Amino acid sequence: MILYLHIPFCESKCPYCAFTSYTNKDVLKEAYSKAILRQLEFELERFNPQLKSIESVFVGGGTPSVFDSKLLKPFMQRLLPFLNSAAEITTEANPNSASLKWLLDMREIGFNRVSFGVQSFDDKKLKFLGRVHDAKNAEEAVLRAYTAGFENISVDIIYGVKTDTKKLLENDIRRAAALPINHLSAYSLIIEEKTPFFQRKNIQKESLSMAKFFVKTLENENFSQYEISSFSRGYECFHNKQYWQHESYIGIGCGAVGFDGQKRFYPSRNLEEYIKSPLIQKAESLSEEDLKLEKLFLAMRSNVGITLEFFSEQAISKVDMLINGKKAYIKDGRLYSYNYFLADEIALFLI
Ligand SMILES: C[S@@+](CC[C@H](N)C(=O)[O-])C[C@H]1O[C@@H](n2cnc3c(N)ncnc32)[C@H](O)[C@@H]1O
Ligand code: SF4
Repeated sequence: MILYLHIPFCESKCPYCAFTSYTNKDVLKEAYSKAILRQLEFELERFNPQLKSIESVFVGGGTPSVFDSKLLKPFMQRLLPFLNSAAEITTEANPNSASLKWLLDMREIGFNRVSFGVQSFDDKKLKFLGRVHDAKNAEEAVLRAYTAGFENISVDIIYGVKTDTKKLLENDIRRAAALPINHLSAYSLIIEEKTPFFQRKNIQKESLSMAKFFVKTLENENFSQYEISSFSRGYECFHNKQYWQHESYIGIGCGAVGFDGQKRFYPSRNLEEYIKSPLIQKAESLSEEDLKLEKLFLAMRSNVGITLEFFSEQAISKVDMLINGKKAYIKDGRLYSYNYFLADEIALFLI
């Protein structure tokens, strides 16, 4: 089993971001730390039949680095009896708030992986994206994490911004690659509804050739793509791979999502409501058809692939067509796509 915890606090709101996060509710942090503990008890009970051990924890946000580790400690202590000794325990962090003290404290309470929201190493692009750090801050933050003893460090980069050029992206990758990181996530900018970027024009530059150039440049720096947005230099994120294999997950916090293999659970996205009633959640039942489709899409977007037994006789003839057209291949009884950027088209073709 894997567990996701959402920290819905941020220092400032980025104009592209639709994740649940609040910038002016720091006084609620302590109450939040109690609410997540209440929800944890409830989920440990609910998932009890499936729960052998917890193999990974991912604390995301919002901005976990603005949440004092003292407020997280009781939560981590309660998880301790369930944690696998080799569990991957990741926290997201923002470059400017991840102080050496916070990083050391997080190591002490069990974290062994950190993922920084860097977005770019170009100061103009960072300004355009509304970030409060600069490129130098980002480099220093990664080095601090390394000094604090984190061996597994990842950075997030955003591409597909209108001002992106090959030269700029090359510089983003080169500066990232020079750091002691073994993972990089590269997200193509999504213009989300109800964000300030949604009201503006000319923000995005969608270009398949640019995306391909990005992947090629990363490969030259020894990062291999193992999912549409994920690149490994010797370390693949265990937690994300469990999502792509459609495993169940416990989701804790305001704006988190849980999944028991059949249903999704949504605690409130309203912070005050969540703190008052962390056990009140919307449940969404997924049909067998929905589940199958999700599984196929996730499998084609990553090196997880899918067993051939998944396909009906009719669909197997389409699998053959994909193989003949060099769009997919079979290895050890599983189907994989060659080009993760074509994953959605491949999945749609196979339905
Ligand atoms: C949930 S955010 C939290 C990380 C952290 N708060 C930060 O911003 O540094 C995780 C990552 O999602 C990506 N992201 C968020 N909104 C996005 C968008 N609209 N388009 C593409 N990527 C996005 C960013 O790369 C970000 O680092
Ligand atoms: S991108 Fe990160 S820092 Fe910016 S608002 Fe979203 S969660 Fe907060």
